[in-house]
Amino acid sequence: MDAAISPPRLLSRRPPGPLSGTVRVPGDKSISHRALMFGALAVGETRISGLLDGEDVRRTAAAMRALGAEVTEAADGTWRVAGRGIGGLLEPEDVLDMGNSGTAARLLCGILASHPLFAVMTGDASLRRRPMRRVTDPLAASGARFTSREGGRLPLAVEGARLALPIEYRVPVPSAQVKSALLLAGLNAAGLTRVEEPEATRDHSENMLRHFGAELSVEVAGAGRVILLRGQPELRAADVTVPGDPSSAAFPMIAACLVPGSSVVLPGVGLNPLRCGLLATLDEMGASLRIENRRSEGGEPVGDLRVDAAALRGVDVPPDRAPSMIDEYPVLAVAASCASGTTRMRGLRELRVKESDRLSATAALLAANGVSVAIEGDDLLVHGSGRPPAGGGVVETHMDHRLAMSALVLGLATEAPVRVDDAGFIDTSFPGFADLMRSLGAAIEPA
Ligand code: S3P
Repeated sequence: MDAAISPPRLLSRRPPGPLSGTVRVPGDKSISHRALMFGALAVGETRISGLLDGEDVRRTAAAMRALGAEVTEAADGTWRVAGRGIGGLLEPEDVLDMGNSGTAARLLCGILASHPLFAVMTGDASLRRRPMRRVTDPLAASGARFTSREGGRLPLAVEGARLALPIEYRVPVPSAQVKSALLLAGLNAAGLTRVEEPEATRDHSENMLRHFGAELSVEVAGAGRVILLRGQPELRAADVTVPGDPSSAAFPMIAACLVPGSSVVLPGVGLNPLRCGLLATLDEMGASLRIENRRSEGGEPVGDLRVDAAALRGVDVPPDRAPSMIDEYPVLAVAASCASGTTRMRGLRELRVKESDRLSATAALLAANGVSVAIEGDDLLVHGSGRPPAGGGVVETHMDHRLAMSALVLGLATEAPVRVDDAGFIDTSFPGFADLMRSLGAAIEPA
């Protein structure tokens, strides 16, 4: 962003009445990145409907174009990708700028590792702070060479392997990004790639690999999984329908829980079981949630969510739930601040390496608005009094879209308005967020 342009500031305040209506949240970010990437690696034309039209996904589209795939957007919002086939991507002429997107950067490392080309990747100030060794270290076993800044930070340069070797790796942190990077590299390695994850993480890559015709087996092993992928399959173009993003749905969902009298319907939200931790937690907190019209779209379960306002109570969120709701903790913490009693969210170490250090930034967001909050080790504790917090704070968003949206949801409940210092990054995952919330009756305005 141009430093000379001041960042867009927004505030939210308690609306005069309940939130009500039916709104469709934008397409799933994880599935959107993958649809473009697998489309670029397949033979033939992939058509994608419901793709998230956000900054992060546009970075992936631009990277796939820079690698030689044809990626076009039709007036009706459908995207088409003419793929180059596995191993067929071309050397990019310039630096690949992945903007704010960790998923785009890490998955792309996997693709580049097994293509015989040289590429340089960078990102914005937030992404340049994030750890990349978690992917580059295991990917080096394929024969790829990575050089990067101190601490494995971007910008980094990749010399992809000429003849990539298949990798066997046990992922030490619960990360779908690391798992997916290894599977993407394995697509162009002769033989079997084996990825073991000690805790199951979102399996959109596995689902989409099957959808595109790859040979893949997934074995449940305790709380985790072992994935075997046979390399160099013929990946065939396949149409993809992207469901609504459950991580984006979390914001209007929790807003509807908190604003008295509200009733909101969110149709077509993805309900992949490995993304549903927030629904389970809100249910335990006493939220009024109903899933209607369950169906399957493009290999992923979806449904319509109906949320009514309800009094919430504090709960203990177990650490093994974290992978299935990793992006939802900031907004869950907002819900907890309006609940009665303490909510302890356990095992949030991974939150420290998101678009910001979300563990401390979430605590700061709440503290700035009169909420009693503490960090104990990797746990976040939020003490709710059963009444809405005071509000009135200015929240530092640290280039993090989810902090900005969480703060704006909080302001719909607090006594005084809540301001965010920079709402610009909301466009990375949820373009049109403020308008969509206003269409439900939310009071969100320039600050
Ligand atoms: C994602 C995985 C998660 C999540 C991110 C999207 C993905 O990150 O936080 O927003 O699409 O694979 P990690 O895999 O690093 O936990």
